[in-house]
Amino acid sequence: MAVIAVFNQKGGVGKTTTCLNLTAALSLAQRSPIAIDMDPQGHLSLASGLKHGTSQAKSIVSFFKEHTPLAKLIYETPAGWQLIPATLELSKIDALYGSDPQAAKMLKQGLSEELSLTGAPILIDCCPMLGVLTLNALLAADKVLIPVSADYLSQHGVHRLDSALNVLEKKLQRKFERRIVVTRFDSRRKLSFDIYDQLRERYGSLLCKTRIGETVALATSPMHGLDVFAYAPNSPGAADYKALAKELMDSGFI
Ligand SMILES: Nc1ncnc2c1ncn2[C@@H]1O[C@H](COP(=O)(O)OP(=O)(O)O)[C@@H](O)[C@H]1O
Ligand SMILES: [Mg+2]
Repeated sequence: MAVIAVFNQKGGVGKTTTCLNLTAALSLAQRSPIAIDMDPQGHLSLASGLKHGTSQAKSIVSFFKEHTPLAKLIYETPAGWQLIPATLELSKIDALYGSDPQAAKMLKQGLSEELSLTGAPILIDCCPMLGVLTLNALLAADKVLIPVSADYLSQHGVHRLDSALNVLEKKLQRKFERRIVVTRFDSRRKLSFDIYDQLRERYGSLLCKTRIGETVALATSPMHGLDVFAYAPNSPGAADYKALAKELMDSGFI
């Protein structure tokens, strides 16, 4: 079972867009992925078409609050892949468990006890803060996918994130296999190419060759509660996420 945390402490870099469309691409490749929304904003849940009927009784919140088994919290999205959704109630988990050092291990335990046998890749959409929720995601994950939008501040943020992961690795005495993917790439801008080249120089093969372009279909599909393959299967955005899934599978990351 590959557990992949999609994380960057910066907002708006394409974490949710990547989690949504990479999960959909893996589903089309018959890998039966499960996505977990770990952001109280619930944007992944919304973008997956679960805006109606998502009750607190069936979301990741009840795993943390009432210890409901994860397997009982899985929805099938309209596009046919599986999701454990989030609601705003998730924002209370930090306050509930903030000072309990054992709380960060809950998701890891839940996944290994209940979902490890399925062998399905699990993708976790993280929130932008490094609190109890994200620690749960990172401790449960063996891999971290870091989306970086093609702008200067994002590029700067990824160096800090990389250092933070190095510190965490030392503390936990384990490695996180990482990949960085450039998102919102605008081929009309020299800046996009410069940022990609600088990341390549610094991170080498950890940087995905596939770049996710800034495109209308990727921005519009969440409005319709659909991933890009269901919304616009022939769009450049669908081609980019299909290529990313292939690259990550071919390289053994997923
Ligand atoms: N490649 C892209 N092309 C166009 N719009 C994008 C792309 N990636 C993300 N967006 C849009 O940018 C905004 C932020 O993306 P999102 O995935 O929610 O970031 P995060 O989860 O990191 O906060 C959203 O409105 C999303 O639709
Ligand atoms: Mg998000």
